[in-house]
Amino acid sequence: MPRTRSGTQAERRKGVGQKQRLQQKGGFGIASRNPFTPGASAVYQEFFGFKEKPFNVTPDPRFIYFSDQHIEALNHVLYGIRERKGFIAIIGEVGAGKTTLCRTLLSRLDNQTTKTAYIFNPDLSGQQLIRTILEDLGLDATGRTKKDLLDTLNAFLMEQLAQNHNVVVIIDEAQGLGKRELEEVRLLSNLETETDKLLQIVLVGQPELAAILDDPEIRQLKQRIAVRYHLDPLHKSEVRKYIDHRMSVAGCMEPPHFTEGALEVISKFSKGVPRMINLACDRTLLNAFVWETREISEAIAQRAVDEIEGKKFPSLLGMEKLTLEHY
Ligand SMILES: Nc1ncnc2c1ncn2[C@@H]1O[C@H](COP(=O)(O)OP(=O)(O)O)[C@@H](O)[C@H]1O
Ligand SMILES: [Mg+2]
Repeated sequence: MPRTRSGTQAERRKGVGQKQRLQQKGGFGIASRNPFTPGASAVYQEFFGFKEKPFNVTPDPRFIYFSDQHIEALNHVLYGIRERKGFIAIIGEVGAGKTTLCRTLLSRLDNQTTKTAYIFNPDLSGQQLIRTILEDLGLDATGRTKKDLLDTLNAFLMEQLAQNHNVVVIIDEAQGLGKRELEEVRLLSNLETETDKLLQIVLVGQPELAAILDDPEIRQLKQRIAVRYHLDPLHKSEVRKYIDHRMSVAGCMEPPHFTEGALEVISKFSKGVPRMINLACDRTLLNAFVWETREISEAIAQRAVDEIEGKKFPSLLGMEKLTLEHY
């Protein structure tokens, strides 16, 4: 088999080239195989040939995998914005990918023709919320009274309408809004023409948001939500594609291979929730690195999942008990 600079394909698969390089760097002794040694995760990254960590839990839109659900959710929001439907609600479990979706949306909207505000900390009183929205839209938020603030917003909305521009406010973690704040948000959307709303408001939140919106006291708001989408976890058939996609974005030419058994374990543990898939894969790769293999067996994945769940193990390479606290 022809040798390349980094060894034969079979060698690369086993990580032979990388292992030698890492040994030369002094990064592969027993001590450094302990995943809790500082820098261990950087070494695992290099061992597998990733340019960056493939399974971070930050909502980085560069990593987005367009599952059927994510495409549909994005299309719902884009439709609501384009058609000026007023209120749009996106609801999903923690870790389903809502914030990633918001960031993807923000990066894809044309900022010349669509002005956006993104509020990710809705733990604000009604007036603070309006001020934050104004600030994010680049407007003067120093008005003393609520009326001053609303006048500024309305003048801006009219100006944008005259140019046929759209204005969108995305409120992430909207389940954190109190009823009073939701009522304020509803009032923000009062300005409208006969057919169009001048401000599009995207409420993004955990399933509690659905319950809040069902509260009879805020019936008026519920009635205004024209587009609503529930972002479900990934289907089992999408888990491999999701994992491979993230590994390829992380810059790996020849990613480690997750066996069917390993995928089964990860799917079962995560129930298809991307955040949980990331946790499981990150730990699984760390363990595969410890065992110096690029072939991810069911046993390696199972051990990773057990560790995340805080199960105890007999000592392995100096590791005693691995629990969630280590994340
Ligand atoms: N469709 C997706 N493609 C790639 N990564 C995703 C996707 N959905 C979620 N993730 C990842 O899962 C983790 C949790 O996503 P996040 O958007 O923070 O979820 P939520 O806001 O619903 O709690 C992040 O690391 C994110 O990058
Ligand atoms: Mg989020």
